Amino acid sequence: MHIKTATFIISNTDVAKCPNEPLPEYAFIGRSNVGKSSLINMLTERKSLAKISGRPGKTQLINHFKINGNWFLVDLPGYGYARVSKKSKKTFQKYITDYFAKREQLVCAFVLVDIRHEPQKIDMEFMEWLGQNAIPFCIIFTKADKLKPKAIERAINAYLAELIAGVWEEAPQYFVTSSSKKMGRDDVLGYIDAINDEFFKKTLR
Ligand code: GTP
Ligand code: MG
Repeated sequence: MHIKTATFIISNTDVAKCPNEPLPEYAFIGRSNVGKSSLINMLTERKSLAKISGRPGKTQLINHFKINGNWFLVDLPGYGYARVSKKSKKTFQKYITDYFAKREQLVCAFVLVDIRHEPQKIDMEFMEWLGQNAIPFCIIFTKADKLKPKAIERAINAYLAELIAGVWEEAPQYFVTSSSKKMGRDDVLGYIDAINDEFFKKTLR
């Protein structure tokens, strides 16, 4: 897919104030620092569309970016990081769960996980929560440039095995990406393109 336009539209913490056009929307979620904002820039080939930082907690709002005039990418704050109490660190911020629970335009959530890390409880819990709320999601493994091909394969197999050993009957669709190496771009955009096609076929019917 060619990205002709990628435009920042609005930031907020209230799902009711998100753009109200009936366009398909894809949200990027995961632990702080996993590379959500970097991935959005990589996919759109825009260096600083989404704000990036080496320090966790950079993205603090729900950010809507309109792509090619007819779909949205959404950059979200990370979970699992808070300078406040341990208790609030464990829970997902209310406005983020509200966004997922109420956003009708959301067609797929991309849950990002750092390919170097073992499955983390907070990611597992978030995926379970998405499942319970019937929200479709895929896993995006990030920072694949940090591992060699064999280690990538091992990491993915171990991750998927743990999912299947848990509550999931089958492994979700997944993608392997590196924002610094531009890896996985065509796969993720191809997936989005296919969903968009379905979406517009249905709405034109
Ligand atoms: P928050 O907004 O704080 O939740 O973080 P985020 O998930 O948006 O992460 P962000 O894109 O800001 O990236 C965090 C750090 O990881 C930055 O230092 C990035 O340069 C680095 N990073 C992101 N993607 C990659 C990648 O594919 N490879 C490598 N090596 N580093 C990456
Ligand atoms: Mg961010």
